[in-house]
Order: sequence, then structure tokens, then C-alpha cells
Amino acid sequence: MPTRQPLQRILVAIGPEPADISSLTARFPRIAFDVVGPDAVNDHIAGADAALIGWVSPSETLDKASGLKWIQTAGAGVERVVGDGFADRGILLTNGSGVMAPNMAEHVIGLMLAFARGFPDLMKGQQRQSWKNGVGMDTVFELGGQTVLMVGLGDIALATAERLQAFGMTVIGVRRSDVTGNPPAHVDRVVSIADIDAVIGEADHVISSLPHTSETRRLFDGARFARFKDGAYFYNLGRGTSVVQADLIEALESGKLGGAGLDVTEPEPLPQGDPLWDAPNVLITAHTAGATPHFRERVLALFADNIARYQSGQDLVNVVDIDRGY
Ligand code: GLV
Repeated sequence: MPTRQPLQRILVAIGPEPADISSLTARFPRIAFDVVGPDAVNDHIAGADAALIGWVSPSETLDKASGLKWIQTAGAGVERVVGDGFADRGILLTNGSGVMAPNMAEHVIGLMLAFARGFPDLMKGQQRQSWKNGVGMDTVFELGGQTVLMVGLGDIALATAERLQAFGMTVIGVRRSDVTGNPPAHVDRVVSIADIDAVIGEADHVISSLPHTSETRRLFDGARFARFKDGAYFYNLGRGTSVVQADLIEALESGKLGGAGLDVTEPEPLPQGDPLWDAPNVLITAHTAGATPHFRERVLALFADNIARYQSGQDLVNVVDIDRGY
């Protein structure tokens, strides 16, 4: 077990207004917690041993953090932290993977059900007070019996797989490493990312929860969309950079894809006038999948668990591999 100096001062900056961290102060009475809004991080980080910070941690902040040994991020994506020579700073980095997994799973299943039941057309019809608006026997489908390919097999994918099994769907997982052994619970089969093209045509729905890394950039391009099953649906909850958006629009316009549910785009916010807004059968949810009223309680529980691990010299959970970028 690593020997570590006990943490004495911890900075907490996870929201626009000061967070209620009584669960932390009660559990760790010897630690001085400094709770600040995002704008005050730079002024308060100098004396901190550790910090729980929202999503961004620019190098300007880190330059002031001479005593910082560990950063816990609230979000899962750490692409804005790990650049700029972060590895050389010798700071341990853990992320918030799992904190938003239950709501993100519900979000993507909501998108799948919306396509299955024709909700977008029904809603458009409602706005015009038009009954049915073309939705009927020949346009709806059932999720039961269909196959889902989860690209990226982290917490979001596993929470989604658990729920999809109840719909009677087959779940195939794609991950970068470790495809040997039994698949995780609720996943029928796991294949390596190197074999993605061999399985992508089996899927009625392809869900990406990939982080932004040099390896995930432009993974979904025209050549890959061409390998999708005709009429398949694509969903992105990870990062917009993994998709060549012009190619996605083309695949939707040609009818190759049945639709796309996109929580993330490139860039964000998606500018007004961008052709993606009006592409056929696109549902854009504007990076809201992570929103949940349970965010605070879950992130503080994760942080408390990691503080206890840190203090007792155990391995932390959600340690980020800086070179891999997630
Ligand atoms: C949100 O996008 C996150 O990375 O947690």
C-alpha cells in the first residue's frame, strides 16, 4: 500500500453556489474543507492538498497549486485536465465515472423509445394539432428482440445494459482492452475495438459513450457508418469528436441510418444554422444526459470513499490513466 501524508486541506468546487458538504465534514473532522464557487478556485487552490473540482482545471490553476497531490473531478471526461503536461505534475487524478451513469442510461433508453414509438413525429404533429402525423404500424418498432452495440464499456454502458436486458435486447460490448473472460453482467458478448467492423452490422442500435482521446477521434466516419445495418440508430453520449459529423449527416440523409440521438456534438454548443440541427431523424439533447438531481450526493459519496482510501493508503477508485486520457 502506498505511504501517503494525510490530507489536511481540501478544496471543494463543484457548483455555482456553495455546496452542502456536511457529509464530508462529519466524516472527516480533522480535514479543513474550503468550499468555493468555480470563479474562486484559482485564489484558493494554493494551500490545498487535494481538490474536488467540476469539469475544468486549466494549467493556470494548476500552476498555483503547488501542494496539490490529488484531484477528483466531478465529471467523467478529463480531456481538459490531462493535456498541457499534466502527467509531469505528479498529481493523482480520479474522475467521476459512475456518478451520472444511472441517469445517462435512462436518457439513452428514452431516446431509443422515442424512435421506437415515433414520439418526434407525434410531437411535431401535436404542435400543428395534427392527429397521428404518419405514425402507425409500419413506422413503429419494438426494442424487444433487437441488438444493441455498446461502444465503450464503462459505467454508462453497463448501467444501460442492465436496463436494456429487461427489454429483452441482446447487448454486445466493444472495448479497447481485456476482451477475454466472461462478459460483464447484462452484456451478452464483448469484442475488441479492433473488431468493431465485424460486429457493427449486427446492431439495430449503436451507442457510443467513448471519451475524447486521440484514439477515439473520428472513429465514426462514413466508412464505418456504411457498415451499419440499414436503418440502424446511432446514439452518442460520449464526446462529439468521435464522430465525423458531415458523414453522419450524409448517412442520415441517404437513409442508411434510421436516426441519431445525440447528447454531444462538435462543437458545443452546436451553432445556430449547423446542418446537424435539421438532419433527418436527429434528436439533439444538448449535453443534458448527465443532469440529475442526485449529482451532488453521488459525487460527494464517491469523493468521501476516495478520501478514506487515500488516508488509509489504499488504491483509489476511478484512477485516470493519464496517457490513455480516461
Ligand atoms: C460530462 O460530459 C462528463 O464528462 O462527465
